Amino acid sequence: MRDFAWGIAATGGIARTVGAAIAAEPGMRVAAVGSRSLGRAQALAATLGAESAYDSYERLCADPAVDAIYVATPHAQHLQVAEAAIAAGKAVLCEKPLAATVDDAEKMVRLAREAGVFLMEAMWMRFNPLIQKIASDERFGEIRSVQASFGFAHPYDPAHRLWAPELGGGALLDLGIYPFGLAQLLLGMPAELHVTGSLAPNGVDAEAAGMLRYPGGRHALVATSLLGNYPNSATVVGTRMRADIQAPFWAPQRILLTGFSMEPEEHVLDPADNGYAGELREVRAAVAEGRTESSIMPLDESLAMMGLLADARGQLS
Ligand SMILES: NC(=O)c1ccc[n+]([C@@H]2O[C@H](COP(=O)([O-])OP(=O)(O)OC[C@H]3O[C@@H](n4cnc5c(N)ncnc54)[C@H](OP(=O)(O)O)[C@@H]3O)[C@@H](O)[C@H]2O)c1
Repeated sequence: MRDFAWGIAATGGIARTVGAAIAAEPGMRVAAVGSRSLGRAQALAATLGAESAYDSYERLCADPAVDAIYVATPHAQHLQVAEAAIAAGKAVLCEKPLAATVDDAEKMVRLAREAGVFLMEAMWMRFNPLIQKIASDERFGEIRSVQASFGFAHPYDPAHRLWAPELGGGALLDLGIYPFGLAQLLLGMPAELHVTGSLAPNGVDAEAAGMLRYPGGRHALVATSLLGNYPNSATVVGTRMRADIQAPFWAPQRILLTGFSMEPEEHVLDPADNGYAGELREVRAAVAEGRTESSIMPLDESLAMMGLLADARGQLS
């Protein structure tokens, strides 16, 4: 059987990281790279052993040798690339968040569903085996509380992707999606959301702390920030067991499980099995099986998260 062939759209930080993960994964290869610049596409293609390089994302998507497109542009540019990929009938793995706005994300999902093309948000946290262990371990009893933060101090620079409104900047969409996403994975969508925080001078969200309320008093306490260095760890408290997830909690190497009637258990990640490998394998498996969505990261849950983050942003002033 021939290797599953990826086309990578963009040449920035995560394109290089995930490109290397593809190149390292048995049964997969990077077939082509697309960029706004032919030189950058050629340079990354050479690094990853890809045979083709294109000076536009649209040309990349039209390459018949490519099975799936990995979208690694800034959030606000995801839809443009995904649209071209879907129109060309390619499976799409789109970086998190699906888009910069709820409208764009809804349009992307609608187009993929109408075309019958596989689409998934690259929420690699859900593919980390230690996160999957926590999500499936019945020894927690009832999960009562999830606490998680993702924040680091990044100098204010309205031209930088993290701060630029035209690139989808702001803490919530870039970093907050992980602590909010851990709460969503373990507790579902909240009945109520209360958020406080602050905006940058250009109006993008600089920091946000939220309480997500669930029926019966269950809750999540989450925080995200571009203004300060947070612990970036997480704690999951169940009625019978607790998990302490070491930083970075969205890609943990190590978790500690403790409970009243058990010896503490430490679980360590097999480095070959990080979340990038898992999400890549999921796309290949889905295409082989003719699935158009992932049950691990369903599109409806990606859309629900877009709505939740927009609600959080709307509470800041
Ligand atoms: N899963 C993860 O671990 C993870 C980590 C970091 C980021 N991300 C996500 O990945 C996406 C990209 O993040 P990144 O850190 O890789 O960003 P980055 O380093 O700034 O790279 C973004 C790339 O997108 C392309 N691009 C297209 N339109 C652009 C525009 N108008 N302005 C700037 N660049 C543009 C550029 O490539 P060309 O010029 O070659 O076209 C650029 O190199 C974001 O959605 C982010 O949330 C995910």
